[in-house]
Amino acid sequence: MLTEKAYAKINYCLNVSKKRPDGYHDLITVMQTVSLCDVVTLTPRGDGCLCLETDMGGEPEKNLALRAARAYFANTETCGYIIALEKHIPVAAGLGGGSADAAAVLRALNRKEKRYTAAELSALALSLGADVPFCLSGGACLCRGVGEVMTPLENRAAPVFVVAAAGEGVSTPAAFAALDAARAKTQKILPEFTPSGLISALEQGNTADLSQNLFNDFESVILPVRPAARALKETLIEAGALTALMSGSGPAMFGVFSDAAVAEKTAKIITSRGQFAAVAVPVGPF
Ligand code: C5P
Repeated sequence: MLTEKAYAKINYCLNVSKKRPDGYHDLITVMQTVSLCDVVTLTPRGDGCLCLETDMGGEPEKNLALRAARAYFANTETCGYIIALEKHIPVAAGLGGGSADAAAVLRALNRKEKRYTAAELSALALSLGADVPFCLSGGACLCRGVGEVMTPLENRAAPVFVVAAAGEGVSTPAAFAALDAARAKTQKILPEFTPSGLISALEQGNTADLSQNLFNDFESVILPVRPAARALKETLIEAGALTALMSGSGPAMFGVFSDAAVAEKTAKIITSRGQFAAVAVPVGPF
């Protein structure tokens, strides 16, 4: 049996650039894997079939974890596995849960089966989704292109996060479309973006500076229509976060804390309201 943790990601910054001819957008983002995770278990089965066990619902064939296993064996002899997913990462929240599950399946399978080089595995990951190559290696990374052009970063900062989510999930394509529509209205020329302040805060291990340099382009189109996410942001800041930001295309929020006890207390306030909250710290690279 193979067991692998599938770590959620947050975006310290997320700059969406122009739409490309293939429908994707060029991004400049700094992503970080955090200790909030799903657990993926692969149990060999003798009949050569791949199947999924999870209580998360949805069509199994659309599930990225099963699709990752199918892609892994696509051009080679298939070994059978039951893929069990223990979900903890909120779904469609901007935390990369599906991508993390897919990456964990690829990592676990390649550790056992050793069929691909690191570069081949990364290409396979990209065929499953723009965030999957990052989720394979994790840590703190500057990601460009659609997210696949990665520069690993040194992270000496030790922030404590409270990751929180409330309200319905957000469709990622819809969030990109909303941003395109808002920009088409204003016709603003997008300035060149370089996250140099953020990168040096990470390298210098300065959590206060890190919190000053966070931003997410999606907040401008998602927060106005998601009062629950706005309220979470306020709660995190009122409870003592240095700052709070939406992750990915939302609606999950993360608060940045320098004090673990305050983070724990804040997470309890949010969970006592029946909403999702978890204390998490940076993890990776793997
Ligand atoms: O690659 P993934 O399946 O995660 O992307 C989901 C959708 O998000 C894409 O179909 C695309 O509409 C949008 N997307 C984008 N630019 C990116 C990443 C995702 O437009 N860099």
